[in-house]
Amino acid sequence: MIIDGKKIAEELREELKKKIIELKATYKSVPGLTVILIGEDPASKIYVKNKQKYAKDIGINSEIIKYQESVDEKTVLDKISKLNNDKKISGILVQLPLPKQINKKKIIDAILPEKDVDGFHPVNVGNLSSGYEGKVPCTPLGCYLLLRKVEKDLKGKHAVIIGRSNLNGKPMAQLLLKENCTVTITHSKTKDLKNECKRADIIIAAVGQPKLVKGDWVKKGAVVIDVGINKTANGLEGDVDFEEVSKVAKAITPVPGGVGPMTIACLLSNTIECFKRANS
Ligand code: GUN
Repeated sequence: MIIDGKKIAEELREELKKKIIELKATYKSVPGLTVILIGEDPASKIYVKNKQKYAKDIGINSEIIKYQESVDEKTVLDKISKLNNDKKISGILVQLPLPKQINKKKIIDAILPEKDVDGFHPVNVGNLSSGYEGKVPCTPLGCYLLLRKVEKDLKGKHAVIIGRSNLNGKPMAQLLLKENCTVTITHSKTKDLKNECKRADIIIAAVGQPKLVKGDWVKKGAVVIDVGINKTANGLEGDVDFEEVSKVAKAITPVPGGVGPMTIACLLSNTIECFKRANS
């Protein structure tokens, strides 16, 4: 079974669109999302454009603030401070990666946790790892929602996560622990990745290595979520060898059309949650 992330994201966006109509009727205003883009990274430019397009489509007020690659840290911090104090702005996102003169931690820490639609602020990270309510980063949230479409009860399932990033691997582990999965986080220094994967009921691949996960790495009937988006000579490829793995997995996400669209839909959902909390 192929998990159709494009369709599932479309359905989620439809629900969110309806929510915004209701919110507009109640509060006479709509959520506002500001995305800060620094520099000319081609992938970041595409991501940011898509984020704005889908935000606008469902009725979120969205703006992109662009800075040149050479911008100084203070200029960005001052802008974040203004946005923190602007009641019309529900959510702030600074697209990563950042140029080297800008300290990523300082930028993330400067965003009010209540407006941190990425869920990267230490307060939100802490809330998630303590099992409290808070913002959940968009990519793992998208993976989780896709997983739930095919696996209703996650209790006791063994999930193997490939990659330990703050963007995905670590928050993914927290989400799955909350659902009573047994979680293994693997990474570049893991000794026998193939055998770790073979024990998994659920594999979340997020390492950025095209077609790393092969058919004989996967237990029959496992669910495989592919977070990788790798540009290769053959076009976009995931971290999973789709052709091989789709023959053994119970369910698998394709690339493109799997996790990607869900990430954006979850960003929109997080923006609406920020708006609701600010108005409640
Ligand atoms: N760059 C790649 N993915 C992301 C993301 O989810 N959020 C931000 N802010 N930057 C990214």
